[in-house]
Amino acid sequence: NALLRGPVFPTPSRPDSSKSVQAAREAFPKVLNEALSTGLLDNSTTSFSINVFSASDNKTLFSYHFEAPGLNGSLPSGHLNDDTIYRIGSLSKLFTVYTLLAKTGFADFNQPITKYIPELAATDTNSTLNEAQWSDITVEALASQLSGITRDYGLGDLANLQTLNATAVGLPANSDAPVCGFGTGFLKPCSRKEYITGLLSQPPLTSTYNTPIYSNAGFALLGLIIESITNQTFSAAFDTAILQPLNLSRTSILSPNDTNIIVPGGLEESDFLPDLGVEDPAGSFFSTPSDLMTLGRSILQSTLIPAALTRRWMQPHATTSNPLHLVGAPWEIFRTAIPISSTTNTTRLVDLYTKSGDVPNYASALALDADHNIGFSILAAGNQTTAQRGVLASLLANTWIPALEAAAKEEANATYTGTYTNAKTNTSLEIAIDDDRPGLNIVSFVANGVNFTDSILAFNGVTPEEAAAAGIEVSIRLYPSSLTEGDLVGFRGIVEMLPYSPLSTIAPFDTWGDAWLAVDGTTYGAVGIDDYVFKLGEAGS
Ligand SMILES: *[C@@H]1O[C@H](CO)[C@@H](O)[C@H](O)[C@H]1NC(C)=O
Ligand SMILES: *[C@@H]1O[C@H](CO)[C@@H](O)[C@H](O)[C@H]1NC(C)=O
Ligand SMILES: *[C@@H]1O[C@H](CO)[C@@H](O)[C@H](O)[C@H]1NC(C)=O
Ligand SMILES: *[C@@H]1O[C@H](CO)[C@@H](O)[C@H](O)[C@H]1NC(C)=O
Ligand SMILES: *[C@@H]1O[C@H](CO)[C@@H](O)[C@H](O)[C@H]1NC(C)=O
Ligand SMILES: *[C@@H]1O[C@H](CO)[C@@H](O)[C@H](O)[C@H]1NC(C)=O
Ligand SMILES: *[C@@H]1O[C@H](CO)[C@@H](O)[C@H](O)[C@H]1NC(C)=O
Ligand SMILES: *[C@@H]1O[C@H](CO)[C@@H](O)[C@H](O)[C@H]1NC(C)=O
Ligand SMILES: *[C@@H]1O[C@H](CO)[C@@H](O)[C@H](O)[C@H]1NC(C)=O
Ligand SMILES: *[C@@H]1O[C@H](CO)[C@@H](O)[C@H](O)[C@H]1NC(C)=O
Ligand SMILES: *[C@@H]1O[C@H](CO)[C@@H](O)[C@H](O)[C@H]1NC(C)=O
Ligand SMILES: *[C@@H]1O[C@H](CO)[C@@H](O)[C@H](O)[C@H]1NC(C)=O
Repeated sequence: NALLRGPVFPTPSRPDSSKSVQAAREAFPKVLNEALSTGLLDNSTTSFSINVFSASDNKTLFSYHFEAPGLNGSLPSGHLNDDTIYRIGSLSKLFTVYTLLAKTGFADFNQPITKYIPELAATDTNSTLNEAQWSDITVEALASQLSGITRDYGLGDLANLQTLNATAVGLPANSDAPVCGFGTGFLKPCSRKEYITGLLSQPPLTSTYNTPIYSNAGFALLGLIIESITNQTFSAAFDTAILQPLNLSRTSILSPNDTNIIVPGGLEESDFLPDLGVEDPAGSFFSTPSDLMTLGRSILQSTLIPAALTRRWMQPHATTSNPLHLVGAPWEIFRTAIPISSTTNTTRLVDLYTKSGDVPNYASALALDADHNIGFSILAAGNQTTAQRGVLASLLANTWIPALEAAAKEEANATYTGTYTNAKTNTSLEIAIDDDRPGLNIVSFVANGVNFTDSILAFNGVTPEEAAAAGIEVSIRLYPSSLTEGDLVGFRGIVEMLPYSPLSTIAPFDTWGDAWLAVDGTTYGAVGIDDYVFKLGEAGS
């Protein structure tokens, strides 16, 4: 593939005032209304709040609330707004990993979890089928769902379901029912000892680091590890690492005593109250559109951890059977194809780093798009929350990511295009932006009086004539390197040979045109021929 992974233009610095974002803001309510009136979105029993935010100009790009007419009595304060508290379920896992990173970065990621939870160490046996090999499991494995341990202990175990007649469905009459937990049996929250004893009785699902399998239990253990590392309760660790520094005044681990909340069916019926005990780090949290925006911005802006750690954090740790779905810590990464411009169907991949959550009557999601420095949140409450989130996520991604791509293009067009000349050395470089291609195009480059585009192509082993004869369209395009310093902005010049190959047809070792393998391939005096730095200044200077 001719592109490097990542943005094809510098991240737009003022998306809020760009034409394409303004157009999206105008058009999007119509998109939502249409989806509500046709029934694509549940328009009777599922309320929701969505929020699109930028981390470049700190603006809320879009905020919207839908109060479902059939959810009477779900809003004690009467209305939804950006400060309404929803239960967020497993989106809590993002707060948990962020707490650990804010406390000690990745320092503990490679350590075996038995270092922090010694009760697990004593139990290693050679029964790999029946016993998790606890000392093989690292903190990273838990955080990125690669531990292979059981999904839960005590969550909705059928043995605790009063209404189930076991023999009628073919199960043995007697079983070791969990002694604590939550869900269908509404047991009491587990203590540390009960929970660990329970986990030790359960066989692993797969071997460690084999394939990602979702586990809430892994995050319960991560909470205990954070307590061990920080010598604070999980709640105190979260408060000091995240909640207080970001002033997330309407986020909590336990059910808040507040009136601006949404409780489908009423407070007692809504699953708003139960404490998950030792599984709090996996799914207990409560938050608002406004606080999720603050959270997302702080990640994109690296306000609590250094930028290099954020970049390390926002990488996949595991693949799945779906080439477009990857797993991070605890990111659920969706590689989303967007058109490279509004006039072509050629697409490029934008990686959405997301975490979502589901508890009965609630669904949540936070999605971050680092290519464009934006994010969006979805909070839903009512009868069809998971479906509502799925539809909203598609509508949001399909509208806002292309709008930001266009905003980036608009800003790059205004900032970088034109002819740069140095009359003394007879050097000139003409940069343009094309309707149907990503990146900046080198239209012509004369260096020290020599036709330098010809030289660049020669360094890359092609002549314009050869390319034409082979039916290959050649261009030299500049993509941001992400290296900036003050008013200096770095780019890499990639020789792009079209047509693009469809991703699905790429065979092993078919690396033809793969940009990531080619960068810095030709140097002169230890400087890459493809190294470009722009100094931003007044137009014409
Ligand atoms: C709600 O959706 C249904 C289709 O499921 C549609 O017939 C109805 O008109 C919609 N109601 C409103 C108020 O848009
Ligand atoms: C946005 O907010 C961050 C964190 O509060 C701050 O460091 C940054 O200067 C702000 N940027 C703008 C453009 O206001
Ligand atoms: C909810 O309130 C509306 C209007 O106040 C009423 O028409 C509707 O029947 C109520 N629905 C339920 C489920 O109580
Ligand atoms: C596991 O197997 C190894 C090698 O055979 C042996 O040394 C060890 O004692 C065994 N451990 C247990 C707990 O059985
Ligand atoms: C449970 O199901 C079995 C088999 O269908 C039946 O014989 C038994 O009476 C049922 N027990 C109860 C308590 O309903
Ligand atoms: C902190 O460490 C002390 C001494 O080891 C221990 O007694 C205490 O329980 C720890 N506190 C927490 C919150 O882990
Ligand atoms: C924290 O947020 C609350 C509520 O939004 C606000 O009243 C308060 O001033 C904020 N505190 C700080 C230190 O920003
Ligand atoms: C909730 O807050 C109200 C007002 O501050 C107080 O009267 C009430 O006792 C609190 N309820 C609980 C369960 O803490
Ligand atoms: C993009 O695809 C659509 C649907 O297949 C087609 O109608 C349209 O002409 C294509 N546009 C371009 C620019 O190729
Ligand atoms: C929505 O869910 C509530 C509580 O689970 C239930 O009582 C109600 O019948 C449901 N409404 C619809 C329209 O499905
Ligand atoms: C770039 O800006 C110029 C001048 O405003 C405009 O004519 C041109 O259409 C723009 N190009 C793109 C691809 O937006
Ligand atoms: C450089 O050479 C290419 C063909 O080799 C030609 O298309 C292009 O116009 C030349 N550029 C300049 C500035 O002369």
